[in-house]
Amino acid sequence: MLRTCSRRVISRLFSISQSAALAEETPPHVPVMVDLVAEHLQLSEGKTIVDMTFGAGGHTKKMFEVCPEVKVIALDRDPVAFEYAQNLAADHPLNLTPLLGKFSELPILLNGLDISPGSLDGMLLDLGCSSMQMNHGHRGFSISREGPLDMRMDSSPKNPDPTVAEVLAHIEEDELAKTLKIYGEERQAKKIARAVVEARYAGIYMRTTKELSELVAEVCGIDHRQDKLQRHAHSATKVFQALRILVNNELNEINYAMLLASRYLKKGGRLLVLTFHSLEDKIVKRHLFGHVSGFAANVEAPKYSLDMQEPNTCWHQLHKHVIIPSDDEVYENPRSRSAKLRVAEKVK
Ligand SMILES: C[S@@+](CC[C@H](N)C(=O)[O-])C[C@H]1O[C@@H](n2cnc3c(N)ncnc32)[C@H](O)[C@@H]1O
Repeated sequence: MLRTCSRRVISRLFSISQSAALAEETPPHVPVMVDLVAEHLQLSEGKTIVDMTFGAGGHTKKMFEVCPEVKVIALDRDPVAFEYAQNLAADHPLNLTPLLGKFSELPILLNGLDISPGSLDGMLLDLGCSSMQMNHGHRGFSISREGPLDMRMDSSPKNPDPTVAEVLAHIEEDELAKTLKIYGEERQAKKIARAVVEARYAGIYMRTTKELSELVAEVCGIDHRQDKLQRHAHSATKVFQALRILVNNELNEINYAMLLASRYLKKGGRLLVLTFHSLEDKIVKRHLFGHVSGFAANVEAPKYSLDMQEPNTCWHQLHKHVIIPSDDEVYENPRSRSAKLRVAEKVK
């Protein structure tokens, strides 16, 4: 379902000044549908919630505002987010437990906390990247800010996963075209893949965000792409999305997270998922409607494998339609424009 925005929001967005855009950086990340999320988690003393995507902690902070006695386990694979979580834990030493790792590493981390399957009251997945990742050039996610082509959510030196620059230096042309087509839904996937490989033949390797975005712009020519708010979208937007999904193994991680929700939530436990594009939402829907099979995408299985046979979970979706942000929220926080919230309760 495409979100259609009112003319009012579109025209107000056009008038956002640069200073307003910069002001958006002041809170490191603005949480999406934060009140609704806290409300639907039905927080109360004695409950334990896992915030699977802590980021800058906007949702977790709201949970403590609503119910200071709730216990929150905060996971994130990004060491920067983990540091934020540790700082917040200093204010809530008995109630907040920060964990550094990926969804696929959660079983081991929960084991260390003596949390067993079927014992959690709520889980929140706020998918995608944080503004801290997107807005800082040195992380390599941003088309408009120059930086090294990294795009790993964990860019610490100890992470052995390849950066986008490393992938582009070695990937086969067909494989790259497939990645851009499937993960970016990029119409010019073949042409762009060809250009990357031809550049390599000439000894030119994509090392920075600027080099890649310029190459894509050259291949795509003058391109009048627009986003869902009818704002100009850079021709490399989809290419960046595809490569980010690839290097972070995002779709398999989401598939895995959904399996974890069915395993670790208790009966009656709530799962809240915020998705930002159709590939994410498709995986979530498949689980909630019971069409679960193996892994999500044509990338390798997670390192810590979960027994795929176990969950025979039934979900009750609390709303017939996905929840989308209000026009006012989209105006205040344009990043929320493509958000969809699904709320489900574990029935069995
Ligand atoms: C949209 S942000 C979350 C923002 C957060 N809700 C807030 O209010 O600040 C998504 C976060 O999820 C993390 N993340 C994404 N995929 C992950 C995964 N597979 N395992 C752990 N963390 C992940 C990212 O590093 C990022 O910090």
